[in-house]
Amino acid sequence: MRVCVIPGDGIGPEVLAAAVQVLRVVAPDAEVSEADAGWATFQRVGVALPPETLGAAREADAVLFGAVASPSHNVPGYRSPIVALRRELDLYANIRPTSNAQQRSPDGPVVDLVVVRENTEGMYIGRERLEDDGDTAIAERQITRRASSRIVRAAYDLARSRAAAGKANPTVTIVHKANVLRVSDGLFRTVALEIAADYPDIRTEEMLVDVAAMRLAQHPERFDVAVTTNLFGDILSDVACIHGGGLGLAASANLGEGRALFEPVHGAAPDIVGKGIANPLAAIECVAMLLEWRHRVDAAQRVRAAATAVLTHGPRTPDLGGSATTAAVTQAVIDHLAQ
Ligand code: NAI
Ligand code: MG
Repeated sequence: MRVCVIPGDGIGPEVLAAAVQVLRVVAPDAEVSEADAGWATFQRVGVALPPETLGAAREADAVLFGAVASPSHNVPGYRSPIVALRRELDLYANIRPTSNAQQRSPDGPVVDLVVVRENTEGMYIGRERLEDDGDTAIAERQITRRASSRIVRAAYDLARSRAAAGKANPTVTIVHKANVLRVSDGLFRTVALEIAADYPDIRTEEMLVDVAAMRLAQHPERFDVAVTTNLFGDILSDVACIHGGGLGLAASANLGEGRALFEPVHGAAPDIVGKGIANPLAAIECVAMLLEWRHRVDAAQRVRAAATAVLTHGPRTPDLGGSATTAAVTQAVIDHLAQ
């Protein structure tokens, strides 16, 4: 198994070093190679995603990605490497699970949901321009039948496999804003409802995105699989991850045909970089997701069991109320793996 590791910027290298340590314990045969991308890379070589990195990502069996720091102003020539990787590798399905299994009070509601986000188009196609001497900014949003139908199918297939694994009341919530974005989300909605008809065993519900944000915050236990377009999914998955213990624990998969990239949901966290206190558990969960995707289910379960034990008994990083370092949490996970 060849794993291409792209640490990126900020805490990306800190948390991926932890993830790779764990990977080496549970999959000693894995061939790990490292590749550069991100803001520091852009400043050094003038591109954020060098062609060698793209080539290495293509050739690997799976990619582990840390985080990149993207400037919030327009920098000529800079394009977000993660957005580019998703497009170049056609990783069309962004799968972001949230579960509160690790922090639920015994009588509390069970949260076990997945946000399935379209990953290749929508608002993130990068077609923005200024008009009117710079006083008007226009962004184009692209919705296609092809991308909508494959992401909605991915969501229904996921709901089916979760049902097969014992999840009750399998439901797909189609999230859109077709009442305002009548043409673009109108197409997404039409296609989604057509596909829903192929899955009579799965309950279908529709929700406007603003209501979905409120319900995800208030009643996450009512969701199973929610599917939506790129920008909405980006935002909703961050809302959902609150219930799973926050950004320090949230992991995601970017899946295409026979390809996959795993990354923590969090970013480069410039406020804590270099302090050695970044929570490595989101990146370590990425390793579990990667192993599962490669059908190494036992190894994935070992990683999850070790991470759960550490979450339960500590040590914990400051984002979870503790005072432990990244290294201490990682070592605790490795110690549990050895038991
Ligand atoms: P962020 O996720 O980097 O940080 C948000 C807050 O969560 C910060 O207070 C940070 O310290 C905390 N946090 C994040 N991950 C943590 C971890 N593992 N352990 C403990 N605390 C953690 O989001 P922000 O601040 O909006 O963005 C910072 C930079 O990251 C920006 O340049 C942004 O473009 C980039 N970013 C990159 C992403 C990616 O590479 N996929 C995703 C989101 C943001
Ligand atoms: Mg995000």
